Amino acid sequence: MTTPSPHGPAESPVRDFVAIGLGPFNLGLACLTEPVPGLDGVFLDDKPDFTWHPGMLLEDSTLQTPFLSDLVTLADPTSPYSFLNYLKESGRLYPFYIRESFYPLRAEFSDYCRWAAHRLGDAVRFSHRVTEVTHDEATGLYTVHADDLAAGVRRTFHARKLVLGTGTGTPPHIPDTCRGLGGDLVHNSRYLEEKEALRRKRSITLVGSGQSAAEIYYDLLQDIDTAGYALTWVTRSPRFFPLEYTKLTLEMTSPEYIDYFHSLPPGTRDRLVASQKNLYKGINSELIDAIFDLLYTRSRTGPCPTRLMTNTALTDATYDETDGTYTLGLRQEEQKQDFTLTTEGLVLATGYRYRRPAFLDPVADRIAWDDHGRFAVRRDYSTDLAGDEIYVQNAELHTHGFAAPDLGMAAYRNSCIIRALTGREVYPVERSIAFQDFAAVAS
Ligand SMILES: Cc1cc2nc3c(=O)[nH]c(=O)nc-3n(C[C@H](O)[C@H](O)[C@H](O)COP(=O)(O)OP(=O)(O)OC[C@H]3O[C@@H](n4cnc5c(N)ncnc54)[C@H](O)[C@@H]3O)c2cc1C
Ligand SMILES: NC(=O)c1ccc[n+]([C@@H]2O[C@H](COP(=O)([O-])OP(=O)(O)OC[C@H]3O[C@@H](n4cnc5c(N)ncnc54)[C@H](OP(=O)(O)O)[C@@H]3O)[C@@H](O)[C@H]2O)c1
Repeated sequence: MTTPSPHGPAESPVRDFVAIGLGPFNLGLACLTEPVPGLDGVFLDDKPDFTWHPGMLLEDSTLQTPFLSDLVTLADPTSPYSFLNYLKESGRLYPFYIRESFYPLRAEFSDYCRWAAHRLGDAVRFSHRVTEVTHDEATGLYTVHADDLAAGVRRTFHARKLVLGTGTGTPPHIPDTCRGLGGDLVHNSRYLEEKEALRRKRSITLVGSGQSAAEIYYDLLQDIDTAGYALTWVTRSPRFFPLEYTKLTLEMTSPEYIDYFHSLPPGTRDRLVASQKNLYKGINSELIDAIFDLLYTRSRTGPCPTRLMTNTALTDATYDETDGTYTLGLRQEEQKQDFTLTTEGLVLATGYRYRRPAFLDPVADRIAWDDHGRFAVRRDYSTDLAGDEIYVQNAELHTHGFAAPDLGMAAYRNSCIIRALTGREVYPVERSIAFQDFAAVAS
């Protein structure tokens, strides 16, 4: 990687929009805007190429949402950027058909997204890290400043509008007690890179009980006999709770539930999000059962060197450089009892938090903020004071509810954003898909 020079070439044309960040959500926008005549956007991402959560591409892991939640299908089932078209082109459509599962492998979904990104050509620019966004009152244009990490130059892009899609994972969430702790603790987002080093430890402790933690626990438990470590899984949750996936609850990932949620007062919305964790954060129930079954198998010939602790909060952590161990302060919350645990390996599967990108600082006065300093996102996903300049993807959990990170609602949100960008309904925007009513029914 070269250091960008301050005098790189400017990209002169004025585009309709610049999209910043290329996870699945802005990539879906790229696929859906590519065929729209007269709509000119460029997509910037800091990675050298497309990968999707590379540290969590465990071989057997699958999407939690069906293949229909690909980049385009729910907006345009005829799009050439569909997952099925990817399978056809890569010669895997028949094996996928015979497999009879709606759920693609996660690694396969990452490959599919890379295939789509490469088909998009020049509209997509990898190795472009956005450092600053400025606005010119006279022209009404935004200028996006980016380091082209491959060419080692700085570039500028001009546009009337922005779409922010920088995700929630940069950087991943490290609990306060573990910040700057030293040693080789691992956040789950780097699990696969660090797996071999972890396997050499005599003890490993895993913190958190979301889907990521459960997948890593299952993976480490499979190797426990051959690698010979003691494995501890700690969560402050009262139980290893499952992701709720029943069909009438799934109807809450719908345009009308988003309408309803968005119309509620902000305090009610915050309370709801906190109470709806098991709708978007729990563990896949088949995986919970698979973990139990593996524990059962492993314990047949004697005790398995593993412990699972619920209701147990991480209150303190220290690292001893001399023997390379962590001492974790833990508290059984219901008994209010403190104790310690010493471990060589420490894996924090502690999730992600949205961070407002620093590159927005120069245009902060153009953005609508709520009382907590979060984006005050309008129903149409705009979050600027003018109301039609800056759109967000996956930064609106507090205003639009738990569908925000869901791949299954991405095509819908992109259809809404494209309608706002073009002033017309290029892709039909569903109003109502659920059998149930969420708001009071007019009498
Ligand atoms: C392991 C894992 C599996 C998941 N599986 C599912 C699933 O099966 N189904 C589901 O519905 N949801 C799933 N999710 C939740 C969610 O859909 C994903 O996290 C999804 O990747 C979010 O997409 P995104 O486009 O918002 O952001 P991301 O995928 O995080 O992409 C954001 C991109 O922006 C780039 N970026 C950030 N800052 C800058 C900058 N300054 N300049 C340029 N680029 C920048 C980042 O490098 C990154 O490439 C999963 C989440 C995780 C962690
Ligand atoms: N198969 C898949 O497709 C797949 C795989 C992985 C992830 N995902 C999705 O990606 C999203 C993120 O999942 P994730 O598992 O990485 O994260 P997550 O669901 O946010 O879980 C984070 C875990 O860390 C705990 N935690 C957070 N801060 C902590 C602290 N300070 N001390 C102790 N524990 C702490 C949380 O506990 P509390 O609950 O008490 O806060 C929770 O158990 C979810 O929407 C998930 O469904 C999908």
